Amino acid sequence: MAKLIINENKELSTIEPEIYGHFSEHLGRCIYEGIYVGENSDIPNVNGMRTDVVEALKELKVPMLRWPGGCFADEYHWKDGIGPKETRKKMINTHWGGVVEDNSFGTHEFMELCRQLGCKTYVNGNLGSGTVQEMSEWVEYMTFNGISPMADLRKENGHEEPWNVDFFGVGNENWGCGGNMTPEFYANEYRRYQTYVRNYDPEKPIKKVCCGANVDDYFWTEGVMKTCFSHAEWAHGFMDYLSLHYYVHPEGWEIKGSSTDFDGDVWYKTLNKALHMDELITRHGTIMDKYDPEKKVGMCVDEWGAWYTCEPGTNPGFLYQQNTVRDALIAGITLNIFNKHSDRVKIAALAQMVNVLQSVLLTEGDKMIKTPTYHVMHMYRHHQGAKLLESSVTGIDEIGPDEWKVPKVTESVSKDKDGVITITLNNLSIEAAEEVEIQLSNGEYKVAESRIVTNSDMHAHNTFEAPEEVVEKDFADYEVKNGNIVAKLPANSVVEIRVQK
Ligand code: AHR
Repeated sequence: MAKLIINENKELSTIEPEIYGHFSEHLGRCIYEGIYVGENSDIPNVNGMRTDVVEALKELKVPMLRWPGGCFADEYHWKDGIGPKETRKKMINTHWGGVVEDNSFGTHEFMELCRQLGCKTYVNGNLGSGTVQEMSEWVEYMTFNGISPMADLRKENGHEEPWNVDFFGVGNENWGCGGNMTPEFYANEYRRYQTYVRNYDPEKPIKKVCCGANVDDYFWTEGVMKTCFSHAEWAHGFMDYLSLHYYVHPEGWEIKGSSTDFDGDVWYKTLNKALHMDELITRHGTIMDKYDPEKKVGMCVDEWGAWYTCEPGTNPGFLYQQNTVRDALIAGITLNIFNKHSDRVKIAALAQMVNVLQSVLLTEGDKMIKTPTYHVMHMYRHHQGAKLLESSVTGIDEIGPDEWKVPKVTESVSKDKDGVITITLNNLSIEAAEEVEIQLSNGEYKVAESRIVTNSDMHAHNTFEAPEEVVEKDFADYEVKNGNIVAKLPANSVVEIRVQK
């Protein structure tokens, strides 16, 4: 029998709540329709934000939201998105479907959304096609509490008080859509631009995110870290986080693969690719350690998730895809990896929040459904802010086709401030259940709560007609034997067990 051994006496690191963050770009139906419908919509809304969506997201305890992109960020000119809506400049969203962007959702609307969600703000600036002045004025507009041209403009536009900008991205994917730069060129630009991201309120310093690598581009990480840390004693103020983007494409970037139509081999191939996140964090982290051995710079995986071929009949530029029990496993596996690396990974953002890529919510007109990924994020919310505990699983097989083998079970364990221990386990097998004996070192515990997301059909997903095919349910298939908990994890499952004294 597999054993999960937990050492409650060894707290390894804090799982920052922001690891459970989200990303919302001006892309397809994420912002428009998915989140923002405008004040005059028939769809119930508060200040233009869909009530159903906001209420569902509040249940996830969304800690942080990144906006406005993505590739869109390096073409976004923030002044187009302020002032009376009827006079806001329109633009073409060149990256995403070539549609007209009317800028009706801008800085004020984003800040209002974060207010309603009660989350931290992560604003991504434009380094690729914007100027230092434009970036610096945006920061002044949002955060300066006094008399200044930008603060006065904000007040004229109806917002007297400054907002908090918790995180600020200095460009996005500048190795690609954000300007096709070399690491050294970007790093020098980063040094310059970030200088003018001023902290107007020393009590609430803005944390700066430097653009990191795509997938396994270790050359980028090395080049950026080296250039930014060439004067080591100053460098820590330059950079609070370095980003990493990694998407799972079952059949590679060109073909990607269907979100709902796949066989068993592709199931394992997809999960094997999700597990690759562990190696990416380790290897980029090793390069970061060379320049930042004290781990003062956090890794910020601000785009992660599955990216499939878009749903038939939808605009290919909108990246709309379904979400099955396989996505529940991708989420469970990835979040366990982030938890285990929480000494270095301090922020992450699932791409994207509504109607784009591995979303937690899908909408169609006034209808909204929760995806399997939503339910996993909901269970895992208990890890937010908790201490990662030392844990390991033994006695499990590797399963799947030779080239795409995966461990049958993955796990992570944390302890919250009230002493409640959250154990999250995934059974990656599409064929067989797995019994796991959970051994805690400090004697007996009571099970406080246990939940599961599963479906015996690996293709199961929620639709507007059948919204509850894959949902979070109570999990009762466990026994307490000699002080240990023996849980039987069904195939295709993500399980959460919470225990306390
Ligand atoms: O999330 C979709 C796109 O993927 C983002 O705009 C970009 O940053 C990444 O390539």
